[in-house]
Amino acid sequence: MPKITVNGKIVDVPKDRTVLQALDDIGLLMNGVEIPHYCWHPKLSIDGSCRLCQVEVEGIPKLQVACSITVEEGMVLRTDTERVQNARRGVMELLLVDHPLDCPICDQAGECKLQDYAFEYGVTSSRTREPRRAKQKNVDLGPTIVFDQERCILCRRCTRFCDEISETGELVVMNRGDESRIETFPGVPLDNPYSMNVADICPVGALTTKDFRFKIRVWFLEDVPGICTGCSNGCNIHLGVANNKVYRYLPRRNDAVNDTWICDAGRMSYREIGATDRLQHALVRGSLGVPEATSFDAAIDASAARLSRLRDSKGPAAIAVVASAHATNEDLSVLRRLLDGLGVASAGVAVVRGEADDRLIKADKAANAAGAKALGFGDAGSLVEKLRKGEIRGLISLGHDLVDALGDVGPLEDLDTLIVLDTHHSALQRVAHVMFPVRHLAEKVGTVVNVAGLVQRVRPAVEPAWEAHAEGEVIARIGHALGLAGFDGRFDPREESKRLGADYPAFAGIDWNSVGESGSPLAEFENAPEGSRG
Ligand code: SF4
Ligand code: SF4
Ligand code: FES
Repeated sequence: MPKITVNGKIVDVPKDRTVLQALDDIGLLMNGVEIPHYCWHPKLSIDGSCRLCQVEVEGIPKLQVACSITVEEGMVLRTDTERVQNARRGVMELLLVDHPLDCPICDQAGECKLQDYAFEYGVTSSRTREPRRAKQKNVDLGPTIVFDQERCILCRRCTRFCDEISETGELVVMNRGDESRIETFPGVPLDNPYSMNVADICPVGALTTKDFRFKIRVWFLEDVPGICTGCSNGCNIHLGVANNKVYRYLPRRNDAVNDTWICDAGRMSYREIGATDRLQHALVRGSLGVPEATSFDAAIDASAARLSRLRDSKGPAAIAVVASAHATNEDLSVLRRLLDGLGVASAGVAVVRGEADDRLIKADKAANAAGAKALGFGDAGSLVEKLRKGEIRGLISLGHDLVDALGDVGPLEDLDTLIVLDTHHSALQRVAHVMFPVRHLAEKVGTVVNVAGLVQRVRPAVEPAWEAHAEGEVIARIGHALGLAGFDGRFDPREESKRLGADYPAFAGIDWNSVGESGSPLAEFENAPEGSRG
């Protein structure tokens, strides 16, 4: 590794990298070494167009752009001299010459790099007296993004994203010189499965998402690290939370999982958390045959009574369990103990499958399909067959993905007992005997395993406004009500996470604390599909 000197401090950096890349690799960029930049982005090709990243390099008379110059052994850099600061001020003045004074009404305010750098590098007034040029505002670029031409600083991050990441090429720079502007080709909207990432990487308020713009000022939002539940890639996200409500998902950088991107479907899946069809009451089918709202305790007692009656009359072979790949490993570990305690052998996991691509989007549409598998829940296919043949009389279903596998709830209509733990209403409500509202992944503590075998953790970003518990807690209480050994009715996901490591070799040495914010690979994992990372 070459040694370079930055502002008098010697650091080891990876070779064959540009100065910005190398400093980013070792975590010093904008975190000890301040080199403002607009056009450079760690996951896009180098453009070298904004000229903001100029630094002094000993032995080279002119200032150099740090995003393009490659590190060399013995290189001596200064990022804080008067000459560098003058150059920055000059670039900023140029960028601001025609920029509208929009900050009070711009949705990017509070997370705008133009605002931040203007403040930081001392450009507080304008020397021009000419009116600012009017350009197009509120340009509809497609189903997800709105463009403000006046705010654009032509860093070309968005065009490179469309060329290099989504590989759809919708955005281009039209015209030349001061007539240059970002546009789409006539009749070709910005419309691809990753389109909303352009708003994240736009350093100013030129590109905003139709979904989030003008909903809330960003300084009211708290960013809570989490995991997307949209598919088994387990993309790392920030949940933007205020007033106990999730307003948006933004990508959180994890080079082993999703670089700095998320897909649009995953991004929009935040809406599931505050959806109006969340299950909000424990329900027990009453004497009239319709589900009636009841207390959690009454629903626990009803579940235990039904399960114990069925086990005693028809034996544990008549009972089956469908696990959910939306539940955490900790929830599923308690579920497995319940199975063992009841002597139930028929168990599987139902996972809805859909479209996949060779970038992030995976076919399994749940965050913890790999975790369920690592905990011994195989595909629910054979169980579905047993249900169709009427060989099962009692079923515990976590979530409603089973309905997708069955096609409809017909085969469940005649069950003696159907206990459902779910976040949302579903067709199961028509046939369930007991239903429990449970927490969304954004509302609980636990771990999930992504498609590449990386264990990642979640924590509550919001609290449900009604009584809802993690699946692990509901099952722990049912186990206790059944009087099963090892169940005291309590569920502590952090303790359960430690227990996972002891009970399952795949989880050896891993728990909620140790996986940190960027995840930790399973100790044993074989099924990573080609191209997945971790
Ligand atoms: S729209 Fe944003 S990302 Fe695209 S060139 Fe303009 S400033 Fe850069
Ligand atoms: S690729 Fe999957 S995990 Fe990633 S954002 Fe999309 S749905 Fe979520
Ligand atoms: S970041 Fe280096 S020129 Fe733009």
